Amino acid sequence: MASPPDSKYTYTIHRIPTPSETTPATLAALVKKFKQTKLVALEAEPDGFAVKYADEVLHPLDIWTQRLAGLSTVLICVATPIEEAIPSSTSLSISNSNSTPESAAIQDPVTQDADTDADTEALLHNEWIGMATIRGPLPYPTYHLPETGQPIPADPDQETRWHLCSVYTSSAYRNRGLARQLCAAAIAHAVAATQMLNQSQSLSQFQSQSPSGSQSEPKDEAGKKTAARIRLFCNPEKTYLVAMYKRMGFKEAGRCTLKDAFGANGDGGLVPRDTGSSEALRYRWERRYGLAMERVCEM
Ligand SMILES: CC(C)(COP(=O)(O)OP(=O)(O)OC[C@H]1O[C@@H](n2cnc3c(N)ncnc32)[C@H](O)[C@@H]1OP(=O)(O)O)[C@@H](O)C(=O)NCCC(=O)NCCS
Repeated sequence: MASPPDSKYTYTIHRIPTPSETTPATLAALVKKFKQTKLVALEAEPDGFAVKYADEVLHPLDIWTQRLAGLSTVLICVATPIEEAIPSSTSLSISNSNSTPESAAIQDPVTQDADTDADTEALLHNEWIGMATIRGPLPYPTYHLPETGQPIPADPDQETRWHLCSVYTSSAYRNRGLARQLCAAAIAHAVAATQMLNQSQSLSQFQSQSPSGSQSEPKDEAGKKTAARIRLFCNPEKTYLVAMYKRMGFKEAGRCTLKDAFGANGDGGLVPRDTGSSEALRYRWERRYGLAMERVCEM
């Protein structure tokens, strides 16, 4: 398919609302679009994801719905024809392909002033041309996989942990910085959510102090998060991907198995139980082949 001229479209990133934030009818429409977009992606790029089209096409809708809930935040890049462009207070406009990851990273389409309706409108009415999922904050015991060789943080209590996955852009819209912007938005979400966590902690500490206030003791900084750790897994054979993530600030951080990837992506329940029962299954599921990369964003 020929690439559409940039001048005719604006590209914006929107978060899919969680099931509890929307009506059943809207949720059903969004889940259907999410499933369709991912299946098209899987057919076009069988090597681009941990999961396979043949398995995914069989999943009931509740599995797709769960992927929008809990610790998962799904970001969608939509293309809007210029004449129909609806200004949105919540979207991250990325029609300027020269914007740097840093300029995008200061805007978080997820935690800035919420206008879920504008996001939902944009998602319902425009073409989805890219996606990324950011999962977190994740607990240390399940996040840290010692066998991968990933670095051990000095103090796990002082950071939040996130896993970035399902980064994809439609082939007709590639090479215009959209994957870079999706990753920047995902990173911005992790950083902003960590800042919000610190603010709510400071507030609760303030409120628990004596009402006299002015005589209060110095604020206890214990438990404050000083960093957001963002990890991803990718195929090391795709050297351009490794180079792309390095330019986004990620560093190599060990080797993972397909089983690790399913778990980190929130699909641990889809891993067969007998992955060690034959040479073929071990090769598919337990070979330490994928490249782990991570970026630590200091607060
Ligand atoms: C990988 C993918 C997401 C890139 O999407 P994109 O929208 O074209 O990426 P961008 O335009 O934002 O490019 C980001 C950078 O990567 C580079 N890049 C992207 N695809 C490239 C390729 N095939 N070869 C070489 N460089 C490439 C760009 O030149 C750009 O470089 P910069 O850092 O100097 O700006 C897209 O090709 C894709 O969806 N592939 C299939 C799924 C997949 O493999 N996902 C990754 C899972 S870990």
